[in-house]
Amino acid sequence: MRRWEESDAEQLFKYAQDPDIGPIAGWPPHKNIEESRFIINNVLQGKEAYAICLKEDNKAIGAIELRLGDNADLGEGDDECELGYWLGKPFWGRGIMPEAARELIRHGFEDCGFNKIWCGYYDGNEKSKRVQEKLGFKYQWRSEDVDVPLMHEKRVGHVNLMTKEDWLKERNKI
Ligand SMILES: CC(C)(COP(=O)(O)OP(=O)(O)OC[C@H]1O[C@@H](n2cnc3c(N)ncnc32)[C@H](O)[C@@H]1OP(=O)(O)O)[C@@H](O)C(=O)NCCC(=O)NCCS
Repeated sequence: MRRWEESDAEQLFKYAQDPDIGPIAGWPPHKNIEESRFIINNVLQGKEAYAICLKEDNKAIGAIELRLGDNADLGEGDDECELGYWLGKPFWGRGIMPEAARELIRHGFEDCGFNKIWCGYYDGNEKSKRVQEKLGFKYQWRSEDVDVPLMHEKRVGHVNLMTKEDWLKERNKI
């Protein structure tokens, strides 16, 4: 994982134009490379936002972020954040996102000092639900009528939480 750079725009567009990636996460597919460049410069520059890259060529194949403050839909206070992620379709099913998320969660608890990491998925997103289960998130609640502003619609949402205490307990079992 590394920070996004403007030169990743072509690579970002390659995967973010896919209608199976953005809409299920709540954002429309990118229309062109210029839009991807704009997103890199204006959306993917959060303090804890990273490009997921293949080790062999350092090319971006997905995104992962701990969203803080106003950028987060879930969590309150300075010691809470929200995990968000997506991965280019050719790389699905290899456990890449659980691997990346495990490290970002460690970073969040150990290095950034968070005490709670929230993570959600919209109803029907079984793949994301599965990732959160594998990571050890605990189910909290279902929300009806969640606003999805970029898609101009309302959906049913599901909310998961991992506390630092839970994370430490799980880690000590290994
Ligand atoms: C959710 C996502 C990040 C998962 O990443 P990943 O690295 O493929 O995660 P995993 O390899 O652990 O696979 C998770 C589950 O997806 C399903 N899956 C994997 N590959 C798949 C494929 N090619 N087609 C359909 N489903 C697949 C499997 O059920 C798998 O669970 P399993 O390992 O128990 O069989 C990825 O599917 C994605 O980017 N989806 C679109 C964006 C999105 O939903 N983001 C999250 C918003 S909350």
